[in-house]
Amino acid sequence: MSNYNDDLKWRYATKKFDSTKKLEESKLETLLESIQLSASSYGLQPYEVLVIKDEDIRKKLHPAAYEQPQILDASYLLVFTANTVIDEAYLDDYMENIVKTRSMKKEDLSGMKDMIMNAVISQSNEAKIEWAKKQAYLALGNLLSSAAHHKIDVCPMEGFDASQFNEILELKDKNLDTAVIATVGYRSEEDALQNAPKVRKPKEKLFHRL
Ligand SMILES: Cc1cc2nc3c(=O)[nH]c(=O)nc-3n(C[C@H](O)[C@H](O)[C@H](O)COP(=O)(O)O)c2cc1C
Repeated sequence: MSNYNDDLKWRYATKKFDSTKKLEESKLETLLESIQLSASSYGLQPYEVLVIKDEDIRKKLHPAAYEQPQILDASYLLVFTANTVIDEAYLDDYMENIVKTRSMKKEDLSGMKDMIMNAVISQSNEAKIEWAKKQAYLALGNLLSSAAHHKIDVCPMEGFDASQFNEILELKDKNLDTAVIATVGYRSEEDALQNAPKVRKPKEKLFHRL
């Protein structure tokens, strides 16, 4: 078993993927499961992830991501989107999932439902989408760590135009809004960045022990 922090030191935001080395389907499934297992506020997972392999779609998205080469060269492009309709029906779906998964009675969850209605569902749409995007970033973090552990390369990316992504992927009709994206595959040996030392804040600036 590798040392977890060694995995984190091995990973880097990959700029140049080896387009001839495709990520195996089983490894993709492992990464998707890591995303599925992510923690989220109240467990609501207010996001959906598009897993894009199709080259034509990626060619269309490439200009909307400032022509960053990873979009085309990686094996997959993952688009993390926030749900834009987080209403009582959405919450009821979640409640049903709990009832089924944990063999509970719906009545046992009425207190929980009221709490989430008050804390989340009653918020403005704008606030809910912002909150949903934060949850999506947690899932992105899980993807990065899991990929590092499995020696798979990822580039997390904010360098794209969300409104263009929404339009190209027709997300508005699906009640989704692009939050953040990531490309997944294997690094090219030619990517010099893989050997660059990590630039991080020193611990004394990052942590304050009280
Ligand atoms: C949310 C987020 C957005 C990022 N956007 C981009 C991007 O659009 N393009 C890119 O090449 N790198 C992007 N990066 C990579 C960062 O520049 C990189 O993670 C950071 O410099 C630390 O280096 P390391 O990840 O290689 O250790 C992004 C990283 C994060 C977490």
